[in-house]
Amino acid sequence: MSTSLHREFISNSEADTEKFAAELAASLPRGTVLALSGDLGAGKTVFSRGFARGLGILEPVSSPTYTIIQEYPCPAGGWFFHMDLYRINDARSALDFGIDEYLGAPDAWCIIEWAERITGILPPDTLHLEISILSDSSRRLTLS
Ligand SMILES: Nc1ncnc2c1ncn2[C@@H]1O[C@H](COP(=O)(O)OP(=O)(O)O)[C@@H](O)[C@H]1O
Ligand SMILES: [Mg+2]
Repeated sequence: MSTSLHREFISNSEADTEKFAAELAASLPRGTVLALSGDLGAGKTVFSRGFARGLGILEPVSSPTYTIIQEYPCPAGGWFFHMDLYRINDARSALDFGIDEYLGAPDAWCIIEWAERITGILPPDTLHLEISILSDSSRRLTLS
């Protein structure tokens, strides 16, 4: 995986964001950790839903705010782990919760909403996607 991957995309709708995410998912190998950041309502969950579609997952995907993590088997093998750390305060509580098992899984794609809460314990090759709100319907997605 290239750590120099850098891309910017302007999305003008929820569907645009889902399509961008689905295409990205299809291009990333198992073992990818993708850290999402952006304000409440930016589109992190919309992006995660598109990402799941790109992995061929048909189940409904919603934010695991209360369960913190949702695990989905991928039809082609492996797992999609969708995490929402909104209710996790810091890296210590994430580790207590067992997050390192998920982050280190070689056969999974891992997406983390509110990843900025655990910056210090993300794997070194983590990809970062920042979503900025430009208007009601448009967003800037920056991958680095
Ligand atoms: N271009 C866009 N991309 C993604 N979401 C958008 C876009 N334009 C409007 N939205 C709306 O923004 C909201 C994003 O919600 P959500 O994905 O739950 O945000 P987050 O998980 O970042 O808190 C949804 O209501 C969605 O319909
Ligand atoms: Mg969300």
